[in-house]
Amino acid sequence: MRILTGLQPSGTLHIGNYFGAMEPAVQLQDKGDAFYFLADYHAMTSMSDATTLRENVQNLAIDFLACGLDPEKATIFRQSDVSAVTELSWILSTVCPMGLLERCHSYKDKIAKGLDANHALFAYPVLMAADILLYDANVVPVGKDQKQHLEVTRDLAIKINDRFGEDTLVVPEAMIKENTAIVPGIDGQKMSKSYGNTIPLVGGKKALRKLIMKIVTDSTPVEDPKPTDNSNVIALYKLFADEAAVQQMIEEHQAGGFGYGHFKQQLFDAYYDHFEHVRTKREELENNLDYVNEVLAKGAEKATAEATKVIDRVRKAVGLR
Ligand code: TYM
Repeated sequence: MRILTGLQPSGTLHIGNYFGAMEPAVQLQDKGDAFYFLADYHAMTSMSDATTLRENVQNLAIDFLACGLDPEKATIFRQSDVSAVTELSWILSTVCPMGLLERCHSYKDKIAKGLDANHALFAYPVLMAADILLYDANVVPVGKDQKQHLEVTRDLAIKINDRFGEDTLVVPEAMIKENTAIVPGIDGQKMSKSYGNTIPLVGGKKALRKLIMKIVTDSTPVEDPKPTDNSNVIALYKLFADEAAVQQMIEEHQAGGFGYGHFKQQLFDAYYDHFEHVRTKREELENNLDYVNEVLAKGAEKATAEATKVIDRVRKAVGLR
């Protein structure tokens, strides 16, 4: 089984990225042949500063390793180190109806948020399909916001296979974990860099605590029972605490007598502990950038070898060289 996923180096990794993609990626690296990459071509759709992009790539590579991705088990690489992906993206474009892209929510959302409606933003899902199809991936662990992009990927693979031969491309499946499909942000909407509502994995203790204290709640007085459905604090606490602890928090909500600050402090403690090992590993890696760069260089070699097999097969099937 080939597993593949990618994350954009477009800012600091947040707990939505972690539970939606990173944690499943770490778990799956023991279950098959894993390919994990930093989607720097994709990040160019939302940023235009070369130095920042380079720094973000470095930082995300550190995050990959600090979170537990293991270069002995998984191939870890930078998307742009394998430029065949842009060639496959072109080939896929030739079978991609405009309507398929026009229907994509993420494109419509980004335009609504004021990003320029340029071609790269529109064609984003085609490049993403190429990322997946170039490595014959079977399973793609992602958050729910990527579900539609996976559907586009499957559609394009099927269209290529119908037109050029059944064995040209492998049709992949999305893997979306129900309990972490949409991690909420501090305002209760989906956690997203573009909503400015993210909780990062690591940072200074004081600043992180302040952020957790900002999580939006209602204004039920301390002594009154508090609603537990749609509670943002409980939804986030579930990511870090065991069932008994969550149950206790629910009961304390229902009983009344506890303020939201009390629950947020519990959430903060559980969250801060959860990423203790990531913080420690991160510090180590920040002092060993040669190692991080070596991992990316080796990953690029392995990824190129796999991609070359697939792009050669596709070129032959469609009538190129
Ligand atoms: P990116 O960097 O925006 O997000 C990386 C991963 O984090 C997941 N995610 C979430 N999951 C749950 N709750 C949230 N609030 C949340 N926010 C983000 C995303 O679903 C994603 O899995 N297009 C991809 C990058 C990409 C890719 C690919 C992924 C490019 N090519 C090929 C898989 C396969 C993206 O937007 O990443």
